[in-house]
Amino acid sequence: MVLSAQPRSPRLDPEDLRAVFAEYYRCCTEVIVFFGGIVAPFAGDRVLAYFGYPEAHENDAERAVRAGLALIDAVVKLPIRLDSSLHVRVGIASGLVVVGGPGPGDTAVAPLAVGEAPDFAAQLQSSAQPDTVLIAASTRDLVRGLFDYREVGPLALEGLAEPAAAWQVIGTSAAESRFEALREGNLTPLVGRDEEIDLLLRRWRQIQSGEGRVVLISGEPGIGKSRLVRAFQDKLADHAALSFYCSPSYQDSPLYPVIAQLERTAGFRRDDTPEERLAKFEALLHPSIGNEATALIAALLSVPGGERYPLPNLSPHRRKERTLEALVAQLAGLASKRPVLAVFEDVHWMDPTSRELLDLTVEQIARLPVLLIVTFRPESNLPWTDQSHVTNLSLRRLGRDEGGELVRGLIGDSAPLASKVVDDIVERSDGVPLFLEELTRAVLETAPVGAVPAMPPLVPATLHASLMARLDRLGPTGKELAQVGAAIGRHFSYELLAEASQLSEPESQQALSRIVDTGLLFRRGLPPQATFLFKHALVQDTAYNTLARGPRQALHARIARALEQKFPTATQAQPEFVAHHFTEAGISEQAAAYWCRAGQLSVAKSAFVEAIGQLRRGLLLVVDLPDTRARRQQEIDLQVTLAAALRFPKGYAHSEVSEALDRARSLMLEAEGAGTIAYFAMLFGLVGVNYIGGRPRVAHEYAKEFLSLAQPLAQPQLLLMGHQLVGMTLIVTGDYRAAFTHLERAVGLYKPEEYQELAYRFGGDPGVRALSIRAWALWHGGRFDEAEKAGQEALYQARQSVHLETLAYALSYNCLTAVSARRLPEAGRLANELTSFAREHGYALLHGYGLVLQGWVMGKRQPGGAAVEQIRDGLAAARAAGSRFHEPIVFGLLAEALGLAGEVEKGVEVVAEALSAAKNSGARGNDAELHRLRAHLLGRLPSPDRTEMEASCRLALAAAREQGTRGFELRAAVSLARLLVAQGRRNEARDLLAPVYGWFTEGFDTPDLQEAKALLETLDG
Ligand SMILES: Nc1ncnc2c1ncn2[C@@H]1O[C@H](COP(=O)(O)OP(=O)(O)OP(=O)(O)O)[C@@H](O)[C@H]1O
Ligand SMILES: [Mg+2]
Repeated sequence: MVLSAQPRSPRLDPEDLRAVFAEYYRCCTEVIVFFGGIVAPFAGDRVLAYFGYPEAHENDAERAVRAGLALIDAVVKLPIRLDSSLHVRVGIASGLVVVGGPGPGDTAVAPLAVGEAPDFAAQLQSSAQPDTVLIAASTRDLVRGLFDYREVGPLALEGLAEPAAAWQVIGTSAAESRFEALREGNLTPLVGRDEEIDLLLRRWRQIQSGEGRVVLISGEPGIGKSRLVRAFQDKLADHAALSFYCSPSYQDSPLYPVIAQLERTAGFRRDDTPEERLAKFEALLHPSIGNEATALIAALLSVPGGERYPLPNLSPHRRKERTLEALVAQLAGLASKRPVLAVFEDVHWMDPTSRELLDLTVEQIARLPVLLIVTFRPESNLPWTDQSHVTNLSLRRLGRDEGGELVRGLIGDSAPLASKVVDDIVERSDGVPLFLEELTRAVLETAPVGAVPAMPPLVPATLHASLMARLDRLGPTGKELAQVGAAIGRHFSYELLAEASQLSEPESQQALSRIVDTGLLFRRGLPPQATFLFKHALVQDTAYNTLARGPRQALHARIARALEQKFPTATQAQPEFVAHHFTEAGISEQAAAYWCRAGQLSVAKSAFVEAIGQLRRGLLLVVDLPDTRARRQQEIDLQVTLAAALRFPKGYAHSEVSEALDRARSLMLEAEGAGTIAYFAMLFGLVGVNYIGGRPRVAHEYAKEFLSLAQPLAQPQLLLMGHQLVGMTLIVTGDYRAAFTHLERAVGLYKPEEYQELAYRFGGDPGVRALSIRAWALWHGGRFDEAEKAGQEALYQARQSVHLETLAYALSYNCLTAVSARRLPEAGRLANELTSFAREHGYALLHGYGLVLQGWVMGKRQPGGAAVEQIRDGLAAARAAGSRFHEPIVFGLLAEALGLAGEVEKGVEVVAEALSAAKNSGARGNDAELHRLRAHLLGRLPSPDRTEMEASCRLALAAAREQGTRGFELRAAVSLARLLVAQGRRNEARDLLAPVYGWFTEGFDTPDLQEAKALLETLDG
């Protein structure tokens, strides 16, 4: 609030002027302090006052406006000479300020405050008419219907883009209660509270027989006490209602609620003549109460009773007693006509005399048809709770569904809110209707026109004062503890709080108990094991926001260090917690290291979304650090882990993955980081990017680099991984023999229990990877039974792992093996599992492959267009995720499905495409099968070209032999033998097939060997 004064007469002697201003300052200070404000050091004729500092009250804005009105009154009436009297103009604005300078030692004089509000107040002050109070929208929003206003403006205010409206305060409004005034007639549709209303209605029925009842409704601010009373009242038909409202502004005026009620009911007006007043007064009272009682009540209301009602001559104490009795008699009089509902609202603000009246009333109404409802906040205790006609009703918070209903009721159809925003509001409001309302309003108001409303980060201004007041009532120690707790988080343990707060133990325990008693915190357990929870997210936010930047950073630093030093287990388990505090403390180096650790842990737990968030936060911090070796190393770790986190949800070959890896690589080349674990992880990433991206030869080069760097190190894990990678890339390029050798080595190094830790860096447990892919290589090596067993073992191991990528890898490779081996039921089962696993975990790339494999199985069982479509969809999905790997295989499966569906020519085309893609990319491992497939499809054309078929079969056989795949060799030999038989070249056929078949020593009940055997038998005969 800013006010300034000017002499009405411009010509004043400087000496006189000084005296006048001295008087003026004295008067201002007195009024402002009376209303709970403090005055900043004087500057010229301007007086700056703050309300809400050093201690906040929920009605600070109201206090400021009342003080403004009172000041005008007081200054005008200053006992100074008429020609030197003063005009005052008052401007008021509300908002957060930062208070600097001397601490709050002197309660009357404020230190300097910086913020927009003092500026706006000063500008309003200079625009105000003499002897008026002008308030800003920010204040108007807080005092709503408590006053009457005249809108002024719009005024161009410095600091605001648009001219803004302002309001001149005319006076206190006629609103009956705080509840009415602050709602200004807008009520959210009632939600819930059926049981409470039922209870009140039952009590109402009980009093009809003449036995009064009392219901004590308690609950924290904004829980809906007044609203419940209002909803109940709306349900009553014929009754007399008396409502007494206690007010925080009148806690020291005796019988204020009673006087206000009587004046309201009488209908007094400011311009009534004494006769009119007396007449209204007489109409108000019940005739049975007698002259003395009437005189006492008249005196209470300052009605001139005159001779008709002479005041009895009584001691002050006796007079008070008789007045209270008179008031009870008045109530009894009313109740003799019809049942009365008497409501005492907000008795926690009641003046002591009213409280005596209430005690008396509670006692008396046991014999009267009166229902007395008393509302109060739980901070005060009431004595009559154990009396038989008294019921306690403590209001609970609304449930989640009720909260959502309230929010939607408030929005109406006006603005669609995303259900996420509604959920956020419900979440942050903790079921308190007032919070629900104000957060919803804030969300609707702060959204720019046309934009989708989102949750504002700050506590709404309309709630700020009341929440601050609740904190300030805790006293300095309590408030400090609340701040420390708020900085730790919504939950905090006593131990950490004690470490970070630096308060002595008895002091902090006492203060904490108080906070728990006032209902701001929940406690579990007893100190030192106790943990605490902020009852409301908004209280936590408010406490946190009271910290200025410097102290806040220092506090976070203390918390982070306490965590590091005293809570090593928690720090290891939840590094993100420590990371958060170092970040907020502005200690970026440590923060980045902890974010990196947190990201690694999250990847290890397959919590990829969290990991990506944590690692990106670390990277943001690292960028601004000075360029040192340590910084570079930190960034490398972060980037490499980020690549690991991204490749599961985004796909191994996604551009974000390769960007992270490229950045890591260039940093490593500068730092000569070869040989570090991060370097290996980076190489692994590059193998993945190229392998999945359809460049197996490039991938193979990186795999070899990995292996050759691992060889001199005595680290079996890395060696295993190197062999696995080399083996994997060799299979794709079609060197099955060498691949098998590497995979054998890899599996030989595997000890399951040792590898979980590495899994997150290397796309799953490297041993399971090696086992899976070796099973495939075994099939190609012609060891069909062993392949099946190895696959089962790999899957068994994979299912023991907590790591998602491990199972993903095992499922996809074992499904591929089952497809190669034509083990149809198993291929079907694994393809289904792979598809739903990938869908469940949002793994787009694998989902695509799952669809392809499912489609192939489908085509085998029910040939047709649907199977072909599904394979095509799967292929498109995998490509959309950046993948081109195994395309020669996928194309082969597609061609097969096409052939089965009768689209033979298309099948032939697809095979041709696949062969040329394989040639270009170097992924030649499926060449033999593709040639064989071509021959098979050509044979199904209307007039097959036998020569070409034979050529294809011979190409297939040659490729299989060159690449060392016995599986494909057998299949090619069978196809060629059939072709020869069809041409009558039976001997040739037998000579070709017999040695191939003869090589096998196991797997005789597999379809491939059975088919070969059957064919040979026809040839032997
Ligand atoms: N059950 C409800 N359904 C819909 N709105 C509600 C409900 N309860 C409360 N409200 C709304 O929430 C706001 C706060 O309620 P109310 O003023 O009754 O709280 P209170 O407990 O009386 O608070 P105080 O202690 O400050 O007097 C009001 O705007 C009220 O209309
Ligand atoms: Mg209320």
